[in-house]
Amino acid sequence: MVFLVHAAQLLELDKMQAGNTGAGWESQLLETGFLGVFLCPLWTLSRLPRHTPTSRIVLWGFRWLIFRIMLGAGLIKIRGDRCWRDLTCMDFHYETQPVPNPMAYYLHRSPWWFHRFETFSNHFLELLVPFFLFLGRRMCILHGVLQILFQVVLVISGNLSFLNWLTMVPSLACFDDATLGFLFPSGPGSLKDQVLRMQREETQGHRPMPTYGCVVRRMVNLSLGILVTWLSVPVIINLLSSQQVMNVSFNPLRIVNTYGAFGSITKERTEVILQGTASPNASAPNAVWEDYEFKCKPGDPSRRPCLISPYHYRLDWLMWFAAFQTYEHHEWIIHLAGKLLANDPEALSLLRLNPFAGRAPPRWVRGEHYRYKFSQPGGKHAAEGRWWVRRRIGPYFPPLRLEDLRGYFRSREWPYVETNADTGRAP
Ligand SMILES: *[C@@H]1O[C@H](CO)[C@@H](O)[C@H](O)[C@H]1NC(C)=O
Repeated sequence: MVFLVHAAQLLELDKMQAGNTGAGWESQLLETGFLGVFLCPLWTLSRLPRHTPTSRIVLWGFRWLIFRIMLGAGLIKIRGDRCWRDLTCMDFHYETQPVPNPMAYYLHRSPWWFHRFETFSNHFLELLVPFFLFLGRRMCILHGVLQILFQVVLVISGNLSFLNWLTMVPSLACFDDATLGFLFPSGPGSLKDQVLRMQREETQGHRPMPTYGCVVRRMVNLSLGILVTWLSVPVIINLLSSQQVMNVSFNPLRIVNTYGAFGSITKERTEVILQGTASPNASAPNAVWEDYEFKCKPGDPSRRPCLISPYHYRLDWLMWFAAFQTYEHHEWIIHLAGKLLANDPEALSLLRLNPFAGRAPPRWVRGEHYRYKFSQPGGKHAAEGRWWVRRRIGPYFPPLRLEDLRGYFRSREWPYVETNADTGRAP
């Protein structure tokens, strides 16, 4: 859990450097990790009796977290895109989601009634099931099982990186010892046996003497409860508001945030394809433009969609956002173009294919905007080995030379790479 907090901090730093708002997963990671710390308060560990049950406050902290994540996601959908109300969102989602996987290619072709059913189930799981948390032990367990199954389905149907795995974590707070007992060996002296004995003793009133450590721990947990309750006020107001916002922190601690992804679904997939040419004249008709290939995002139409979850290729993900808008909204892409013009090894390590590997760097790099659609399984394009059919929309950013970028880089305080090509190539 401490690791989760650390990972969240690193991602947060990464996000600031990229200057992008991302999807708010960092906050979810941070919040889950933060609560996790209270499962095992190291500073009182040595003073605790062997049997120290997890505080109900911490368990409810996790339950409140998953409740907010799911209900927030459900509400933003029905308040947002119309396709969530007429149940057509899943007709588009598999093709237009950030980084489709091979399952999505086939699921996209499910019959229309199946897509309606999927959209409806999504609403059931996000709008109704969260309330099961408050309906007693059995319903809470049912909630946990349903949410974990839901996340497993999402893991299978797309590359949403670690998000789904992370969302499973707070759902575990619905399972008590009796529910999880099957995971542990039984028999005399086993862990299960010891836990049962301790629980029996406790119900008979043989509570261990409260030690100093126990008191400290209780005070810490109580403070946590008060803090979370206090910080929840704006979150509840936001959930009730018709102007609901998503992925926002309402406090400087970045805990007790509001979440909710995929409020709207893009109906068409567009991609930015980066290309380079060795030709001295970018507008010459005989200039040969070669595509850079990213690790996972769609590029070469005959490349099978990748399978990467729970790993996360951040650059591929950002390219999905970039394709919605223009390069002026995503200046980092010009930064990347500059690095490609300089054959920067670090930037190239984030790509799968550099068409200029082992050659001089390209003289020009440009971004092209394409429309992408899945090919029809068993159809003409699929028979030619194509997973995607693409059509050029137009330029995304114009052909650039490294020397053209010097001022642009300087004004943004990005380190500018001087290369031989830059200084040595006379106009
Ligand atoms: C580049 O090619 C275009 C189109 O053929 C031509 O009009 C232009 O003069 C060329 N520029 C240079 C600098 O050669």
